[in-house]
Amino acid sequence: MRTIRFGVIGCGLMGREFASAAARWCHLSDMPARPEIVAVSNRGEEPRSWFTRNIPSVRQSTGDYRELLANPQVEAVYIAVPHHLHQEIYCAAIEFGKHVLGEKPFGIDRAANEVILASAARHPELLVRCSSQFPYFPAVQRIGRMIQDRAFGTILEVNAGFLHSSDLNPDKPVNWKRRVETNGAYGVMGDLGMHVCHVPFRAGWLPRNVRAILSNVVTERPDASGQRVPCETWDNATLLCEAEDRASGSLFPLSLKTQRIAPGESNTWFIEIKGMRASARFSTRNANILGLLEYEGGAQEWREICTGFTPMFPSITGDIFEFGFTDAVQQMWAAFVTELAGAPLPDTILAQAATPWEANLSHRVFTAALVSAEKRTTENV
Ligand SMILES: NC(=O)c1ccc[n+]([C@@H]2O[C@H](COP(=O)([O-])OP(=O)(O)OC[C@H]3O[C@@H](n4cnc5c(N)ncnc54)[C@H](O)[C@@H]3O)[C@@H](O)[C@H]2O)c1
Repeated sequence: MRTIRFGVIGCGLMGREFASAAARWCHLSDMPARPEIVAVSNRGEEPRSWFTRNIPSVRQSTGDYRELLANPQVEAVYIAVPHHLHQEIYCAAIEFGKHVLGEKPFGIDRAANEVILASAARHPELLVRCSSQFPYFPAVQRIGRMIQDRAFGTILEVNAGFLHSSDLNPDKPVNWKRRVETNGAYGVMGDLGMHVCHVPFRAGWLPRNVRAILSNVVTERPDASGQRVPCETWDNATLLCEAEDRASGSLFPLSLKTQRIAPGESNTWFIEIKGMRASARFSTRNANILGLLEYEGGAQEWREICTGFTPMFPSITGDIFEFGFTDAVQQMWAAFVTELAGAPLPDTILAQAATPWEANLSHRVFTAALVSAEKRTTENV
């Protein structure tokens, strides 16, 4: 099995998730390649020391990401840093000739995203993908196969969302994700929006226009010293789009909901598709169940299909067991590493990790949503 040597830039929450997925690569069966993390970069030392303590393959630890990019041992990088650094670091990685899996939103705003896209377009020899793991839940993969087979018939309506209660507590301290300067004007859309857009975009359900309602509910939060400071970012966003099904040309309502203040939800990603021949619903709250209604005339019956542990990339886990968040992250990495190794991906529309083009479309939607919310108008995408 080929080894692909990785650098990690940004050793926080998500950097460690990748390290964990890579450390248990033996979980996956029949992979063409495996990732090995050989270098890490984080401005502060402490997050790097977690890597040097836990990941024996790390040979370079630096506070300057350019030193990591200059390391010829590093073939590919995972970049998981605050949004205001995306453009600078993603473009630098590409210019240094590294393959990139970059975190969403893939640029703090549309302008930054388009600079990254242009940089990737100048280097078609490099694989550049955007992180988004929810399509790798087995139930969502099954939805993907149904989309591929056009099993839904004429699409009537699609509702997709990602709901957190992370900010329900008004005394939770402010951090970079709650500041426009570091998180971006999109607020919650920049944080959670790409996750919600990925499946509809891959399905070819493309927003033509958007009417957005954005809410900033908690406008002040304590800083590290306990003093209350402005919390400027949008907490919740509800986007209603008129979408076109690229395959048939038909139009239908597509709602995209992202919330940081959703009482009772911890990290709930959901999708609901209603079609003339079939409907499906899935939520990570009940991650091993796919709701399916197949209509052939006569009775309409929702079935609950227990999907169990049946991921796209087979693993050592028996299919009667259950699947979760960290498994989805590892499956996304399996897709990226497979593509990087030049091996064929499984023949399903949700196999490939999110592309820069899909990230760009999400930026076009969120930029239009900001205008829509401000002017209370419907804006073309
Ligand atoms: N896919 C997902 O489910 C998911 C979940 C959370 C966050 N994210 C995304 O991941 C990215 C990072 O978020 P996070 O939650 O891991 O944040 P985090 O704050 O936990 O980690 C970010 C790290 O980047 C470091 N950093 C800052 N400036 C740096 C620089 N110049 N060079 C190197 N490192 C630097 C910080 O010190 C910090 O350790 C964001 O784009 C975010 O939207 C994705």
